[in-house]
Amino acid sequence: MRITMIGTGYVGLVSGVCLSDFGHDVICVDKAEEKIAKLERGEVPIYEPGLDAILERNVKAGRLQFTTDTAAAVRDADAVFIAVGTPSRRGDGHADLSYVMGAAEDIARSLSGYTVVVTKSTVPVGTNSKVAEVIRATNPQADFDVASNPEFLREGAAIDDFMKPDRVVIGVESERAKEIMGDIYRPLYLRDFPIVYTGLETAEMIKYAANAFLATKISFINEIAALCERVGANVKDVAKGMGLDGRIGNKFLHAGPGYGGSCFPKDTSALARIGQEHGCPMRITETVISVNDAVKRRMVDKVLDLCDGTFNGKTIAVLGVTFKPETDDMRDSPALTIVPALIGGGAKVRVVDPQGRREGEALLPGVSWADDPYEASEGAHALLILTEWNEFRALDLQRLSQAMSTPRMADLRNIYNRKDVLDAGFLAYEGVGR
Ligand code: UGA
Repeated sequence: MRITMIGTGYVGLVSGVCLSDFGHDVICVDKAEEKIAKLERGEVPIYEPGLDAILERNVKAGRLQFTTDTAAAVRDADAVFIAVGTPSRRGDGHADLSYVMGAAEDIARSLSGYTVVVTKSTVPVGTNSKVAEVIRATNPQADFDVASNPEFLREGAAIDDFMKPDRVVIGVESERAKEIMGDIYRPLYLRDFPIVYTGLETAEMIKYAANAFLATKISFINEIAALCERVGANVKDVAKGMGLDGRIGNKFLHAGPGYGGSCFPKDTSALARIGQEHGCPMRITETVISVNDAVKRRMVDKVLDLCDGTFNGKTIAVLGVTFKPETDDMRDSPALTIVPALIGGGAKVRVVDPQGRREGEALLPGVSWADDPYEASEGAHALLILTEWNEFRALDLQRLSQAMSTPRMADLRNIYNRKDVLDAGFLAYEGVGR
């Protein structure tokens, strides 16, 4: 199969590289010349464990190429994937489809021979039909079908998610397109990973419904966590007790400072907008969004309590600012709400993050950056764990408590036991929901 991937952002790059590893010939296209130049040198512009090795292997095998030339890349392809961004449109929460439609026009001009145009970007229900209309209007002679193939990759675990997916969802409307999509994913089918074929609208809806449901689980447990604090229950044990019920499942029941990232905030807003547009309000999703906003504010209050009611004159060490571990992504990270609130209240903030500094420097003005948690904590009045990076899970608590001016910990990811922290000389420990 000859596959072209339009867009070398997170989804496009991971998908393109992994599809080449299946044995397909893949060309990844991006308009950003410096990005393509980097990729051609074998440099991966994002932090994703394992991606660089697979990229190198497939470039060497001659199966993976990078270019800025859309026309040349599309001409001979059996399938062209659209994997460009669909950011939330400023002001109204709609998914901004200008990049998707722009890509559809570019593709249309260069199509030759039968081609399947596959949308991988997360797009509102009905977009694939619009992509087909745009292609038809731009190039009435084009011989093509559209397909919807939403992705379910988690940043930091994307390679495994692609190679060993819970399922692959493919929305198609013709047997011919179904056959080509089936050939592309055959290596997975042979290893018994389920492939779900549906219509276009259903595939588009599955993606939003899955992300909104996962976000709902998180907001639900975060609300239960707040109540646990009031009634003296422990949310970790509550989540365990609930999650052992096979109908509920134990995943995505970790209470914390609220979900962030490039997907849940954007996709829940988009789903809420789609519901409003169709006169069918997504009331649960709307509530999930507002609970998530409230959780972040609640975390600020929690740290404020820990700091005796004022941030003024306090130095606070913040461990982790990315929206989750194993990524350098800061999009909608809870840190972007919490850290400015600390600074706004008069605190000095010292940050340490294994990968977040490059993006974080621009997004968190006014903080100073430390190389490790011990340096960040020197003379500090409170220690705040915001992201559960592995390197923060086994800290020398005694060394930290001795280095701090008033050793107090807000562990917003519940990675430590209160007793261990207090035994190591901390004066106070606050987790979430326990
Ligand atoms: C999410 C989905 O998990 C993927 O299946 C989907 O493909 C992707 O969005 C997407 O639409 O592209 P991702 O945003 O990379 O993946 O990260 P998650 O691991 O889902 O975490 C999202 C946020 O939820 C993080 O801020 C994380 O800290 C938070 N979270 C997650 C919790 O607070 N508690 C949990 O129990 C789980």
